[in-house]
Parts: sequence; C-alpha cells; structure tokens
Amino acid sequence: MDFSIKACDWSKGTEASFLTGKSDCVVIGVFEAQTLSGAAFTIDNAIGGTISRVIKAGDMDGKAGSTLFLPEVGGIGASRVLLVGLGKQDAFGQKAYGEAVKAAWRAILGTKIAQTTFTLAQLPVKERASDWAVRAAILALRGEAYRFTQMKSKPDTTVRSLKRIVFSVDAADEKPARLAAKQGTAIANGMDLTRDLGNLPGNVCTPTYLAATAKKLARDWTLKVEVLGQRQIEALKMGAFLSVTKGTVEPPQFIVLRYQGASAKAAPVVLVGKGITFDTGGISLKPGEGMDEMKYDMCGAGSVLGTIRAVAEMGLKLNVIGIIPTCENMPSGLATKPGDVVTTMAGLTVEVLNTDAEGRLILCDALTYAERFKPAAVIDIATLTGACIIALGHHNSGLFSKDDALAGELLDASREADDPAWRLPLDDEYQDQLKSNFADLANIGGRPAGSVTAACFLSRFTERYSWAHLDIAGTAWKSGAAKGATGRPVPLLAQFLIDRAAQ
Ligand code: BES
Ligand code: MN
Ligand code: ZN
Repeated sequence: MDFSIKACDWSKGTEASFLTGKSDCVVIGVFEAQTLSGAAFTIDNAIGGTISRVIKAGDMDGKAGSTLFLPEVGGIGASRVLLVGLGKQDAFGQKAYGEAVKAAWRAILGTKIAQTTFTLAQLPVKERASDWAVRAAILALRGEAYRFTQMKSKPDTTVRSLKRIVFSVDAADEKPARLAAKQGTAIANGMDLTRDLGNLPGNVCTPTYLAATAKKLARDWTLKVEVLGQRQIEALKMGAFLSVTKGTVEPPQFIVLRYQGASAKAAPVVLVGKGITFDTGGISLKPGEGMDEMKYDMCGAGSVLGTIRAVAEMGLKLNVIGIIPTCENMPSGLATKPGDVVTTMAGLTVEVLNTDAEGRLILCDALTYAERFKPAAVIDIATLTGACIIALGHHNSGLFSKDDALAGELLDASREADDPAWRLPLDDEYQDQLKSNFADLANIGGRPAGSVTAACFLSRFTERYSWAHLDIAGTAWKSGAAKGATGRPVPLLAQFLIDRAAQ
C-alpha cells in the first residue's frame, strides 16, 4: 500500500485538483449535528447536494462508526463517496477518531476500491494534530489489512484491492504529515514482523529462527548482529538462562542486534525481549488447556525485533541495542527441578521454586549483560506473568520502574501511540516475598501481587542503570475467535524512541 500526502485547504480555492482528480473513492466525515463543513461541504456542493439529501432522508445520521457508500456520484473525479459517521463533535477525540477511521477502512477493504482519497485526518481531533491523525489512520489500515496465512497449504486468495491512499491535509500541515506517513509505514512494518513472529508456531519460530530473523534484519538494514550459542552463554556464566534451556534439545541463542543512528559515543537505549519460543512450564508443567498460546511467550523478543526494524526504517538519530535471550522451556530428564539452586551471571544465587517462572530467569542474565553498553536506559519487554492479566486485563500493558522520569516518558509515549500502559508499584516492601531459605533469592514470591514480585526479581539485576519493565502478558496477543498477535507494544516503544531521538 502506498500512502501520499496532498495539501488541500477546502473552500479556499485550492481544492479544484482534488475534486477533479480521478479515484475510486473519497472518504468524508459527518458529525451527528449533520452540519457539513470542510471537505464534506465542498464535495456536497460539487456533487449537487446528494450528501445533504441523504442526511435529510435519514440514511446517514452521523452516529459514530456508521458508514454509507454513495455510488456513481457525478461532478467529481472520484466515482464513489464514503460517508463516515463521527459522533458528537465535542466528543471527537483520539478514541472517536480511531473508531471512525477503523469503520472507514473496514468498509473500503470489503470492496474493489484500489485508490482512495482520505479527508478524515483534517478533522479537528481534540489535542491531536493532522500528522498524528495521518499516522493513526495508516496504523489502523495496516492493522485491519493484516492477515497471517504463512502456515496454510494454499496461498492467500483474499484479494486486497486497496493500493493507493492520498491523505488531504491543510497546506500548513503538509510537511509533518509526510513525516508521519513515513513513520506510520515503518511502525506498521515493524508490527507486522512482530505479529508474524508471534503467530508462527513453536516448531517453526525456534530460538534459531529468531536468530536468523535478527541476522536478516541486520543484512537488510545494515545493523550489527551477534548471536551467541550454548558454549558462549556458558562462558558468560549465565546460569539462570542456562537452567531454563536444560530440558530441551532445541539450542538456545543469545541475540544482540545493534542500530547506530547517532555518534558511537552516544549512550544507547537497550531493549531486552523475553524470547521463550514455547513455555510448557517445565517440570512445573502448565495445564493442557490453551497451552498452545504459550507459543506467544516470545512476543517480547518479537517486539524488540519489530521496534528495531521500525527505528531503522525511520532512520532515527539515536543508538538502540536489542538483546534477546531465547530458548524453550521444556520438561525432561535433564530439566531443572523445583528446589534447584542456580547461579546467575551477576553472581546472585536463585532457588528455582517453580520452573514455570522462567522468564525472569532468562531476563536477569540478559539484564546483567546489558551493563556493558553503559546504557542511557534499559527497557525489558516480557510476557512475564498471568497475574498481570488478572490485574490489568487486555487493555494496558503493565509498566514498572523506579525511575519516575523514565516511567513518565513511557506513559506519554503510550498515550500518544494509543498503545496504553499502566504503572504498577515496585516498592522494596515486596522484595521480602522473594526471600529463600537456601539461596540469595527465590524465583517466585507467592500469589499476592505476582506481577510486582516478578518485576522486583528483575530489579535486583538492574541497579547499575535506569530501567523500566513492560509486562505484556495481556496485550501481546488475543485469544478466542480473533486469536493472534497484536504487534504491541511496538507503537509505544517506537514513539518512546522517536521522542528520545528528538531530545
Ligand atoms: N509466560 C508465562 C506468563 C503468562 C501466562 C503469560 C499466561 C500470558 C498468559 C510465565 O512464564 C509464567 O508461567 N508465569 C507464571 C509465574 C508463576 C509461576 C509465579 C504465572 O504467571 O503463572
Ligand atoms: Mn512460565
Ligand atoms: Zn513464560
């Protein structure tokens, strides 16, 4: 799909080329108050008042999410008009805009429309400018158009007619809107990668597959990549990571992917992604129901790869390093047992009371490894705890940090990107729950505040830099009929990095 930006100040005499330009459709918005303005007003005049008549007849009431095609319109270059209900004008904010845009794309994707003009990004969205609206529209369209068919025996037969989208924006917004279109495309490409990696089954998306994906990204985007295997992981004394991979025959990998967009001296942002390509729970075996979804336990890793792809395509002026510890968590005669004590790379010993709390074990060694980069900030992303779904459901990712400034930046980015996160506590009081009679700490802290104690465990390995943790257990994929990876939190991370690069 190709996105372009064209300046058009409706009703100011510059709209002629817009009205005569050939296309299959022009998308315009109608508020519940039904007074037409901007593009809607001008186009209504050009086509002889059809929109006003349709509204009067009650066929379009402007209710949020409603759509109506006007076929075979005359008087303009577009052969159809798509009316989109916007709801109440005084409530037209980020959410209402998102709903309207989604409804528009759904309607269009169900037709043979190949080219369309899109005027909704010019609407007055509360607290948001046109460039934001362009980017949000691109992400919504790419989100609606995404299909995962790689594993089907027959090639994808759903034809996607839509190829070319022209956004009209006010002349003054043209330049930022162009940048927004570029960013939107890059973020959507990153999300598609993250979604594909998540949706691939565990027998395809293995640690080796993730490493191959990182190597391909490095080739395509001239990044530096290093992949450490079992021997090198042993040499680094990553005893916690190694304890998780013990039960499987699938080789573990430790991936380091580096994007350099600023001077080599500039401190990097390090993203650490949990890459459990399948989590059976190990000897503390999970129940069978829904266990297939534990193929998604590498979505943190997937989001690191997707974000770095987006950053490279945007060409952001900062340094970003992705670190991915990746392995399977399997039971076997060689697997780690409850009660086993392991020594982390940092030297702290851990009593593995539950082999299903494996994410923190692979992450703690990766977080120690991150120290060598003298990072400006480290953010880990992990499908870490079922408890996070109990606390926050599927809307917000859990955010943990002792650094208020970093947490604030991430929350701002999450709002801007419409990829919400909610901050949860990380007080030292919770550390007591990790006490062990036999080692420096235990890998579980009991049922109360399970997500907080998981974050507390990680915090013990992050004392040398500014750090935040995102628990994406509830947001990385959807269950049920719409089962599939969401691509989150790539939008949040990409926005955070866009903002950091602009600092
Ligand atoms: N990958 C899971 C967390 C998870 C579970 C994410 C379900 C999404 C849906 C993680 O490795 C895990 O098993 N965590 C345990 C921790 C417990 C043993 C302290 C959990 O949440 O039950
Ligand atoms: Mn687990
Ligand atoms: Zn897990």
